[in-house]
Amino acid sequence: METKNTSRRDFVKNTTLLAGGLIAAPAISKAANYFSGEADTIKIALIGCGGRGTGAAMQALLSKQNVKLVAMADAFRDRLDKAYNALTADDISEWVGKKGNVKASVDVPEDRKFVGFDAYLKAIPLADVVILTTPPGFRPIHFEEAIKRNKHVFMEKPVATDPAGVLKVLASAEQAKQKKLNVVVGLQRHYQNSYRELFSRKNLIGDITSAQAWWNNDGVWVNPRKEGQTEMEYQMRNWYYFVWLCGDHICEQHIHNLDVINWFKGGYPVKAQGMGGRQVRKGKDHGEIFDHHYVEYQYADGSILNSQCRHIPGTMSKVDELLIGTKGKIYCGASNIKDLSGKTLYQYQYDRSKEPDPYQVEHDELFAAIAKGEYKFADAENGAKSTMTAILGRLATYTGKVVEWDKALNSGLDLHPKEYDWNATPPVVPGADGYYPIATPGVTKLGF
Ligand SMILES: NC(=O)c1ccc[n+]([C@@H]2O[C@H](COP(=O)([O-])OP(=O)(O)OC[C@H]3O[C@@H](n4cnc5c(N)ncnc54)[C@H](O)[C@@H]3O)[C@@H](O)[C@H]2O)c1
Repeated sequence: METKNTSRRDFVKNTTLLAGGLIAAPAISKAANYFSGEADTIKIALIGCGGRGTGAAMQALLSKQNVKLVAMADAFRDRLDKAYNALTADDISEWVGKKGNVKASVDVPEDRKFVGFDAYLKAIPLADVVILTTPPGFRPIHFEEAIKRNKHVFMEKPVATDPAGVLKVLASAEQAKQKKLNVVVGLQRHYQNSYRELFSRKNLIGDITSAQAWWNNDGVWVNPRKEGQTEMEYQMRNWYYFVWLCGDHICEQHIHNLDVINWFKGGYPVKAQGMGGRQVRKGKDHGEIFDHHYVEYQYADGSILNSQCRHIPGTMSKVDELLIGTKGKIYCGASNIKDLSGKTLYQYQYDRSKEPDPYQVEHDELFAAIAKGEYKFADAENGAKSTMTAILGRLATYTGKVVEWDKALNSGLDLHPKEYDWNATPPVVPGADGYYPIATPGVTKLGF
């Protein structure tokens, strides 16, 4: 009979041995009987200590298991300090919506705070679970390292910014499956009750023949250039505006909506064509990304997804998804299903006081599974393919061409620098006038 104290440690140890090919795969479901999680500590490391990383670490620490933050890594010391201060504050209600704190669960002395491009290499080995919340350009190498070191993972979307990165994540996802490492991706609609209920009733609308997806709003922050910054530091601070780091806003934010359509369709588009550009967000500090994209995706069965995303203040705001089937429609934002005559077939009932926060549910379910020794979550493959969906759309709007999934995914397109160093030259640099080259449909080539 195993004791509570050895139980989860053994799961982690067994996973490690399994990863090294030393033991046969344990029957996880049987082992689940032995894992309590209450008396044992699950150690986490936070890689990317920005807004989302701080929130995600709090949510991990607020799960019911005995979770401890033991290491932090960031490219910049000031970002790490800000996150550390938030995590050890007396009151974190502005982060999690209720009074309280998690400071007793933060055990990160100076020698477990790591800074720089290689900080992740030092933090990952110290934990059982890693939280990957840097800009998405780094996700493929961070995820690869985490899986190589046999860690369970929570990682934010998107999981890459180019096809080479998507392939790297897919390869690591396969490894994670073989090693039975749980991976949750922050596409939190999968962890939101209303979406789960709609999904379970999707047959009510028959076959899905078309869909629409929107992420239209004002846009996000800008970090203007500061004197003394190298080009690499400037781009890292203002990362949203550089494709190698961010993937453009179709990737960074609209992925949520594209992913919902993929989820309900049960597949991924085979090709895309579209249009886009920048009309408002076009200053020197707006780097190289567009401020609007409109993409027509086609799935293997011929069904169409019309997707639009726009970051332009003063225009219609809408973040939503609509699925149209042979018998009815699913309105995700309104959380209801109607037949073709408009009669409501299902309405999800919100109880604001009890509605679980999907950002918290992601961590509650992940850490509960890990504590019990269960292998339940393999989100990385879908995360990579929904990321690829967004990249496909971007390639279509940048070039004005029809872009095929298979060709794009296997194109070898890799936007990343050869070297990560503050003095290295990033993959894109401004011209003499301080402006960056911008994609022009009809002129910009696919490059494969
Ligand atoms: N699921 C959601 O709803 C949701 C919400 C917000 C953010 N996100 C995602 O979380 C990620 C981070 O977004 P954010 O808003 O926290 O950005 P942020 O700029 O606040 O944080 C990113 C942090 O990563 C650090 N960083 C950059 N490169 C690094 C590297 N190589 N190694 C270590 N640290 C590095 C930055 O210095 C910064 O502190 C993005 O992928 C974003 O899409 C998801």
